[in-house]
Amino acid sequence: MKILFLTLALLATTAQAADIKESLSSPDGKLEASFTLTEGVPQYSLKHCSKDVILPSLLGFELRGNLKAENLIYEGDKVRKEDWNSCYSFAENFEFLGCERSSFDETWEPVWGEEDHIRNNYNELLVHLKQKDTYRLLDIRFRLFDDGLGFRYEFPANQWLGYFVIKEELSEFALAQDCTAWWIPGDYDTQEYEFTCCKVSEIKEHFRDNMRGNSSQTPFSTSGVQTALQLKTPDGLYINIHEAALVNYPCMHLLADCEKHSFRAWLTPDAQGWKGYMQTPCNTPWRTVQVAESAEKQLASRMILNLNEPCAYEDVSWIHPVKYMGVWWEMIAGAGSWNYTDAAPIRLGEFDYSKATPNGRHSANNERVRYYIDFAAEHGFDALLIEGWNEGWEDWANCNKDYVFDFVTPYPDFDIKALNDYAHSKGIKLMMHHETSSSVRNYERHMQAAYQLMSDYGYDSVKSGYVGDILPHGEYHYSQWLVNHYLYAVTEAAKYHIMVNAHEAVRPTGLCRTYPNLIGNESAMGTEYQAFGGIKPGHTAILPFTRLNGGPMDYTPGIFENNLKDWCGNNSWVNTTLCNQLGLYLVMYSPLQMAADTPEHYLEHMDAFQFIKDVAIDWSESRYLFAEPQDYVIVARKAKESGQWFLGGVTDEKAREFKIPLDFLGKGKYIATVYADAPDAHYKNNPKAYTIKKVKVTAKSKLPIRMAEGGGFAVSFELCK
Ligand code: NOJ
Ligand code: CA
Repeated sequence: MKILFLTLALLATTAQAADIKESLSSPDGKLEASFTLTEGVPQYSLKHCSKDVILPSLLGFELRGNLKAENLIYEGDKVRKEDWNSCYSFAENFEFLGCERSSFDETWEPVWGEEDHIRNNYNELLVHLKQKDTYRLLDIRFRLFDDGLGFRYEFPANQWLGYFVIKEELSEFALAQDCTAWWIPGDYDTQEYEFTCCKVSEIKEHFRDNMRGNSSQTPFSTSGVQTALQLKTPDGLYINIHEAALVNYPCMHLLADCEKHSFRAWLTPDAQGWKGYMQTPCNTPWRTVQVAESAEKQLASRMILNLNEPCAYEDVSWIHPVKYMGVWWEMIAGAGSWNYTDAAPIRLGEFDYSKATPNGRHSANNERVRYYIDFAAEHGFDALLIEGWNEGWEDWANCNKDYVFDFVTPYPDFDIKALNDYAHSKGIKLMMHHETSSSVRNYERHMQAAYQLMSDYGYDSVKSGYVGDILPHGEYHYSQWLVNHYLYAVTEAAKYHIMVNAHEAVRPTGLCRTYPNLIGNESAMGTEYQAFGGIKPGHTAILPFTRLNGGPMDYTPGIFENNLKDWCGNNSWVNTTLCNQLGLYLVMYSPLQMAADTPEHYLEHMDAFQFIKDVAIDWSESRYLFAEPQDYVIVARKAKESGQWFLGGVTDEKAREFKIPLDFLGKGKYIATVYADAPDAHYKNNPKAYTIKKVKVTAKSKLPIRMAEGGGFAVSFELCK
């Protein structure tokens, strides 16, 4: 043994002098990534058309000292025991053991998506490294696509590194230029923020002290940002930094070095402050740098999905897109309540439901649910979500109650069997709601029974939620343990053929390719904030670049009534025009699409509601026609089943005009039904002013469209026979 170590040590000394550089080109030759090893320090860089995009940036880790006997460090013939409480750098003193190159080109078919075929084409470089004094191995795999770079760390199994703990990942993203950045502040617990736009060099100045997380004692609290981070160089190149395939690892945030316009990884810690618990062989998620010559190309990039593993399920016949309504907005807006016991004078301790006298505010009651079922079924929806159906709402969110919900006991005025029978008799399904109140162990305790109950009553989709601080205390929503929990919930659900839409879970990283029953996530500021003070216009023109880069969002569009005050005394105003809400069905891609307002509000605008009924939710083709982050997005999509084209767009607080070439249409004449803001529409004072016109068009036509301030539009096309 000893002789072998000496030989390795000698080899290491010989290799040290040489600097290594290995480069890789994208299939179209426009991108070039390089790996370098300079005096033992690994780095990477990225160029687009020979121009620097990412300057040499550090790769590596800070690891916690190891306890295990197999991880002892040998210095010559002496054994040095590592101190479990100290850390060491796994970012230096490496030697190059060699590298491997390969290319890949395939086209795969997603179960649902923005298109029915996705090309996955890249060149790959796999670098093998060994840390000279610890003999520990590190592989770094680079994949270079036409639309960007992905790299990940791989830790081969070897006797020197078995179990280990990550103190921090040191990956850097040193931008070559000071870019414009669209960002939300770093937070270990929520992504529900509006976006700030400023130069990277100015992030610190603009850093609003509005973090709701618990990381105030760290540099993260003044310059941490979340991914996906959208950037634009002064010469108009679009760069996006995110991660792909986040599995068994903490969520990556970025710490900005404003002076150097550079970022470095900052992983979400666990309750003890450590970040990742690993066992070789293992790997990190992919770190991604997408590069696009236009905003529209950035939106069309499928690199994040491509970096995820193929579908893990053999049978996917039970997974399908869902258009749904919900007994929901009336609670969010404050017109109703989740809580059956709202009327009860005493709500402390265990509640005796037999003594409760609901005051009529409990929305999920048999009569109200039947009314929604009737409306949703009559208008062709697939499902109806019902929140507040089960015991536990009296003690939820931040009451620190461990055993809060059991997910199987309905409130006395919710007849689960009768309502499911009624819904099924009308051809729709009920959608389950599992608000966990972030008592995560409690959810895992009850999960099998909860899914079994769904299966027994014929529910095939669940919306889950993680509101409030995580229980057990001290854990964060985005730590490794929680990341594992969210995926566990999805893979367990698959065993019962259940589709999952998780709100407040970690933001998606393309895992829906591998686990397509993950049909939605919220994990960003969604429509609910229109009832919590309002959302600034422009939010839905930045989400497609950022939050949606990793997967679809359950944004819950379709709010037709802006005036919440007159409706239910809520002072919030919905900051969009009605046509903006229609445009969202195209702009906010999701195979799970809600019509979020109440039947009463839709009944007042049945002509506009027709678009929500008509619009498809699964596509064979998508074309981003005009886009600029946080300003506007216009996209045309072709329905997978019918082949029908739809078009839609949204703008920020500025009114905008476009002449939209309809060259995506096939041969023939079409009737376009155009839902547009009226000339005097405005999100603030005249949001419900719209026109619906039918015009004859062909692929040669250019459709003039004006979107009002905070407005949008939607079009459906029908081929003339
Ligand atoms: C927050 C979710 O985003 C919202 O949709 C849900 O109604 C509430 N939590 C209650 O679970
Ligand atoms: Ca939420």
